[in-house]
Amino acid sequence: MGYYAYHLALKEEEVRGIKLALLPGAPERCCKLASAFGSFEELAFHREFKTVKAENESGKILVVSTGIGGSSLSIAVEELAQLGVNLFLRVGTCGAIQEGIAVGDLVISEGAVRMDGASDHYAPLPYPACAHWEMVGALKKACELLKYRYHLGITCSSATFYPGQERYDTFTGYIISSLRGSREEWKRLGVLNYEMEVATLFTVARVLGLRSGAICGVLVNRNEKEEVEEEKIEEIEDRLSEVVAKAAQLILSGEE
Ligand code: URA
Repeated sequence: MGYYAYHLALKEEEVRGIKLALLPGAPERCCKLASAFGSFEELAFHREFKTVKAENESGKILVVSTGIGGSSLSIAVEELAQLGVNLFLRVGTCGAIQEGIAVGDLVISEGAVRMDGASDHYAPLPYPACAHWEMVGALKKACELLKYRYHLGITCSSATFYPGQERYDTFTGYIISSLRGSREEWKRLGVLNYEMEVATLFTVARVLGLRSGAICGVLVNRNEKEEVEEEKIEEIEDRLSEVVAKAAQLILSGEE
């Protein structure tokens, strides 16, 4: 018997030969992402981890939801690596913190600030969280081919949605002193956006000798407001699905 991935509920023989996984956070986004790539089949759904296999003329991929945050993402990457996957693209949503980034724009992360709270179990904090240049190249080329607005730069991955991203629309409105003013500071340091998983992916992938990249659709610009724009989510998901399917195709056909 081959390896059995406990959390993903996947057997090695079900995914043999598949090298590339797309990693959304939400299980309900898996089928949309898979169908943008080609014909698809659901393989497993255990806890937050839904796995869908998709196929087109360029090859086969997996789409695996990781749940919210770095700890569950690290479990998915660990188990997928043991199943033979070595290329990872995170596809998610984010809040922009620089002026001039519009809702619906796409952010491709070159590197990430490690406030994710999980990557320090893999490497000490001075270790950088950076994408693999080939994955960045494929995402960039896909955005250009499809003519979608994108930004390239540094992402801040926070372990929490509220205090770590300095949101005051909370139960008490209180934020500990070490995080007060942090959004302005990251903005001054050129960070583009907040999300919750990229730094974990980049760090874990590097440490394990795997390749990773990440792209996120902008749900809100924090210079303008706090709440995400619910009604824009579907449009942003469609755009992300198209771009990531194209990037996956470029990677599989070696054209990135
Ligand atoms: N995801 C986040 O982590 N932050 C946002 O502002 C939007 C999506």
